[in-house]
Amino acid sequence: MKEKLEALEQEIKEKIAKAKDLKEINELKITYLGKKGPINEFTMHLKELQNEEKKEFGKVLNDLKTSITNEIEEKMKYYEELEIKEKLEKEKIDITLPGVKIKTGSPNILEHIIEEVETICMSMGYDVVDGPEIEEDRFNFELLNIPKGHPARDAQDTFYIKEEEILLRSQTSPVQARTMLSAGGNKPIRMICPGKTYRRDDDDATHSHQFMQIEGLLVDKNISLSDLKGTFDVIFKELFGPDCEVRFRPSYYQFTEPSVETDISCFNCKGKGCSLCKNTGWITVSGAGIVHPNVLKNCGYDPKIWSGFAFGFGAERLAMLKYGINDIRTFYQTDLREIKNFDRREKNDD
Ligand code: DAH
Repeated sequence: MKEKLEALEQEIKEKIAKAKDLKEINELKITYLGKKGPINEFTMHLKELQNEEKKEFGKVLNDLKTSITNEIEEKMKYYEELEIKEKLEKEKIDITLPGVKIKTGSPNILEHIIEEVETICMSMGYDVVDGPEIEEDRFNFELLNIPKGHPARDAQDTFYIKEEEILLRSQTSPVQARTMLSAGGNKPIRMICPGKTYRRDDDDATHSHQFMQIEGLLVDKNISLSDLKGTFDVIFKELFGPDCEVRFRPSYYQFTEPSVETDISCFNCKGKGCSLCKNTGWITVSGAGIVHPNVLKNCGYDPKIWSGFAFGFGAERLAMLKYGINDIRTFYQTDLREIKNFDRREKNDD
């Protein structure tokens, strides 16, 4: 039995020495130290021996088991450490290499200016309201004091979907009419309605068959042009800087009386005269006026009690002025280089 044990020890130690990796060591552990392994088998036979022999062999067997276990564990530890070392070597990161810049989208400049106007108006208590782009003639024209056959319709060359009934809205003013009607004629209103509008225009550097308007409406009691002027003062100073001045010129719109054209002092030349303001020192930015009593009446507000002002400007025109863009088509061509030009985050990152 002794020789057998010595031969076994020899065999196991040779195999441990030859084991090439963690897997092989693990297999040896199972084969030799497992329940069905030879060492355990010897242990089973111990009970067949006499007392003295049992004692002697028990010790030898125990020593053998301890020594094999130690050797296997040592080798295991060695291979485990080696594996970690190799992994670390393989997965080494060179932190001095330049990073890969992740390209993110950026808001279109048009969206940006609309958000700017929304933020300014919301700070004065205005709601931002949406409305349908496919509109009824009634909301787009009739309720706004532009009856069928009226020459004022000609100024807004309209896309009709169903003649004299359904159209692509030519202005965002129908949202004003809808808001007044749903307010029920008995409470004040402050709202702006930015959105797409459509006209049968030929596209060129300053015209597009589809463009964005931002209109606003305030209805309350004793409203006058000076309220409108004060409001414009806030909006345009925020947009174009604290030196920006606002002036009104008489104009004509069917839905406002009196109506005005709004100019701001040229921020480019500070009023001295330049190509941007065509040497006038002023730039036209908005149509506006005091809401016509017929419009209030049509939309459920008693003009003897209520009054208001309304205004509308083209978002593209504002953005073109503010950012020095000279072709309206820039906004719709989705040229990433153009969009990036106006992306402040990107500029700050560089
Ligand atoms: N809707 C007008 C247009 O497209 C702009 C406008 C002028 C809107 C005066 C208004 C306003 O609300 O009061 O030409």
